[in-house]
Amino acid sequence: MEKVKVGFIGCGGRANAHFQKLVTFKDDVELVGFADVILSRAEGFRERAGEGKAFEDYRAMLDETKPDAVVIAIEPCAHGQVDLDVVERGIHFIIEKPMNLDLTKAEEINDLVTEKRLITSVGFQDRYQDITQKAIEKLKGRRIGLVEGSWVGGIPGVWWWRKKETSGGQVIEQNIHLFDQARYMLGEPVSVYAAGGKGIVRPAERNVPGYNVDDYSSAVIKFESGVVATLFTGCYTIGNIKTNGLTFYCEDCVVDYELRRKLTFRDNQGNVETYDHIVDGNVEQTYALDRVFIDAVKSGDTTKILSPYSDAIKSLRLCIAVQESIETGNVIML
Ligand SMILES: NC(=O)c1ccc[n+]([C@@H]2O[C@H](COP(=O)([O-])OP(=O)(O)OC[C@H]3O[C@@H](n4cnc5c(N)ncnc54)[C@H](O)[C@@H]3O)[C@@H](O)[C@H]2O)c1
Repeated sequence: MEKVKVGFIGCGGRANAHFQKLVTFKDDVELVGFADVILSRAEGFRERAGEGKAFEDYRAMLDETKPDAVVIAIEPCAHGQVDLDVVERGIHFIIEKPMNLDLTKAEEINDLVTEKRLITSVGFQDRYQDITQKAIEKLKGRRIGLVEGSWVGGIPGVWWWRKKETSGGQVIEQNIHLFDQARYMLGEPVSVYAAGGKGIVRPAERNVPGYNVDDYSSAVIKFESGVVATLFTGCYTIGNIKTNGLTFYCEDCVVDYELRRKLTFRDNQGNVETYDHIVDGNVEQTYALDRVFIDAVKSGDTTKILSPYSDAIKSLRLCIAVQESIETGNVIML
C-alpha cells in the first residue's frame, strides 16, 4: 500500500481536528473523499485539502472513492447503519466516542469488527498524552486507595448535545473521557452507583431549547483492584469556572492530573514535580492517535493503538451503566 486512502464521514468540529492532522501526512495519506449530510461542510474540507471529492451521501463516497480507512465523526445518535456500512465493506476506521448510544448495537459492530479483523481506533485522545503516560509511570507499583475526578463546566454549543436522545447525556458524551482514563489507569470496574440532579439550568434563560440532560451527577465506581473512584460530571456552571481531571490518592503520594494541562506529583518526603502538557507537533494527542492508526493500517501491526473498538466498548458500557444507575437508583454490576 503506497498511500493510505482516507475518507471522512461527518465533516464537523471533531472531524476537523482529525483533518488538520491527517492533511499533513502527505507522504503516506491521500484524502480521497469527504461526506456530510450538510454538503457545504464536505466541500469546505475538500477545498482545504486540495484533493478528493465531496459527497452528501457517505455510501456514494465509500463506493466511489474506495477508501482503505475512514474517520467517522458524527453525532452520537447518528451511529448504527453508518458504522455497519463501513464494516461490511471491510474498511478500517477511526471512530469518535461515544461509538453508539445503544450498547447492543455497539456489541454487534464489535463482533463484526473482530470477525473481519478490521483495524479500529476510538477517539480517546487522552490516552496518547505525554502527561497520561507520565501519570502511569508515577503510579506504577503504588498502593492507590481513592481516586476523585471531575468534568464540570458549561453546555457545549452543538445542537445535539443538550438532549439525552441525541447525545446520551454528559456522562456518555463527554465525561466518558475521564471514565475511560480511569479504566486505562486503574483496570476494570466491577460496580457503579450514581446519583444525578437537575434544576439549575433553566433552558429558556440559557437559550438551550429542548435541554433535558442531567445538570450534574456523581458516580462511585469500585474497581477489581479494590480502588474506589468518585467522578463528578456537571454542565451547569456559567463563565470560566470549570474543573477537569483526576486525583489519585496513594499510600505515600498524590498524583494530580489536570486534563490536557498538567500533572503534579507530591510525595510524603516533600518532593513536588510538575509536568506541563506539550501540545506541539507529534506529541499532541490527536496527532499521535491519527499517526499510530495510519501506521497500523500500513503495517498491520496494531500494538500501538491504545483504544481499539474492543476496549473502548468497555468504557461505553461503564458510562451507560452510570446513566442506568442515575435513572433507576440501583447499583449496577458490570
Ligand atoms: N475525542 C474528542 O475529544 C471529541 C471532541 C469533540 C467531539 N467528539 C465526538 O465527535 C462526534 C462529533 O462531534 P462534533 O463536535 O464534530 O459534532 P458536529 O455536530 O460538529 O459534527 C457532526 C457532523 O456529522 C454530520 N453527519 C451526521 N450524520 C451524518 C451522516 N449520516 N453522514 C455524513 N455526515 C453526517 C453532521 O452533518 C455534522 O456536520 C461526537 O460523537 C462527539 O462526542 C469527540
